[in-house]
Order: sequence, then C-alpha cells, then structure tokens
Amino acid sequence: MRKTVIAGNWKMHKLLNSAGQFIDDIKSSVPSAMKTETIVCAPYLFLPLLVEKAKGTDIRIAAQNMHFEEKGAFTGEVSPGMLADIGVSHCVIGHSERREMFGETDDSVNKKTHAAFAHNILPIICVGESLEQRESGVMESHIRQQVENALSGLSDEQISKTIIAYEPIWAIGTGKTATDEEANDVCKHIRKTIAELSNQEIADQVIIQYGGSVKPDNIGDLLAKSDIDGALVGGASLEADSFVKLLEEGT
Ligand code: G3P
Repeated sequence: MRKTVIAGNWKMHKLLNSAGQFIDDIKSSVPSAMKTETIVCAPYLFLPLLVEKAKGTDIRIAAQNMHFEEKGAFTGEVSPGMLADIGVSHCVIGHSERREMFGETDDSVNKKTHAAFAHNILPIICVGESLEQRESGVMESHIRQQVENALSGLSDEQISKTIIAYEPIWAIGTGKTATDEEANDVCKHIRKTIAELSNQEIADQVIIQYGGSVKPDNIGDLLAKSDIDGALVGGASLEADSFVKLLEEGT
C-alpha cells in the first residue's frame, strides 16, 4: 500500500515573509496522524527558514533544483551537500521548465539523482510529454526514455525511494488537466517501465505523482486512480488555504 504524497512547487513565487507565514498557516492542518505526506518545494533563499519552521511537524521541505557536483567553480549553483546540511529532505529534478529553459538533459537529471541519493536527499524526478509528442504518437517512448535515463545505474533500493512526477507539459499552468484516465494510463506506463528496469515489487513501491493544473476540485478524482499516488502542484499550492484543501482531499 503506497502512501499519498502531495508536494507544492512554488516555482519563483513569494518573498521571505510570506513563505514563512505559509508554513505557520498550514502547520496546524498537517497533523502527524495524516496519512498524506506533505512537501513544500521552495526557492533556495527560503529553505533555511522553512526547514526551521517545519521542525517537529510532518512537513518536508524540498529544493526545486541542485547541481550534481559536490563543490567547485560553479558560480550561482547550490550543491546537494549544502541542501542536506540545512535539513532539506527532497529535491525536484528535471522539471520541464528547467529542461526547456535551463538546458537540463536526461544526463544531468541522472547525475543529479545519483548525487541526491549520495546525500540522503530523495529525488522528485519530473517527466512528461509536449502536446506535439502526444499527438504524434511518440509519448510513450519519450516517457520511457526519460524514466530509463533518469534511473540508470541506481540500485533497486534507491529506485524504490524515488518519486516520479508525471507532468504533461501541455497541462502545466494552462488550466488544462489531463483526464483522470489519461493521467493514470501514463502513470501505469511509468510503473511498467520501472518494473522492466528493476522488478514489479520495486515498481509497486514507487510513488508516482501527477502534476499539471491540479486543483482542490480535481485532486480527489486523480488520486482515486490506481497508479496516481499524489500530486505535484504549482499554482494551487501558493495560498495556504488552497494547499490545505489539497491535503484534505488527498487524505
Ligand atoms: O511542478 C508543478 C507544475 O509544473 C504544475 O503547475 O500550476 O499547473 O499546477 P500548475
């Protein structure tokens, strides 16, 4: 039985005060008895404050990116060791916005995934197709390749702890959500790919989230599907009220 994992991805939003206030606001709504695991993926600058504020709660704090190298002359970058040192537990890796705008490749995603595990940071690896890929019939092979490349060289144990976020690019921030069926079909395809790479027992442990215009009024139907174990949410995770509604619907 897999747990439900709901992660809010703030992207490049908020200022320090409102970021801290958000954790204060949702704290009382995230009781330890809640089965849903709650993750907040925030800009680097807010992470130390959020980790501090989330201490003693079940809220986990994630980065939205990291470098794969331990240290060195990489101006502007943040290493996995730096994130682990301040208590960050997860990191989003290979979000489509980073792949499209910042040159992230399957190879860098794989390197970052290995580096994350080396520091006990759990990766949330994003995969997903463009509308053109979906319509031209290459969606399945594209996603298979993204998953295989991302997980290449990991141990079965590491694979079992990886979170995969299926985010169709055409559904991100557009208000267009994949139907529950469409989203579940791709999540199933991802699980099958993992089973072939590793084995069914491991694949059955992997948390697969859906992301793309998830809102309080559609999350329930998505999570009711067999292979969708959570959500990676952008816009609807920015306000505490709306995020708490997502958590409640997911419980
Ligand atoms: O990582 C979350 C994401 O890309 C989806 O964004 O705003 O469509 O929920 P949004």
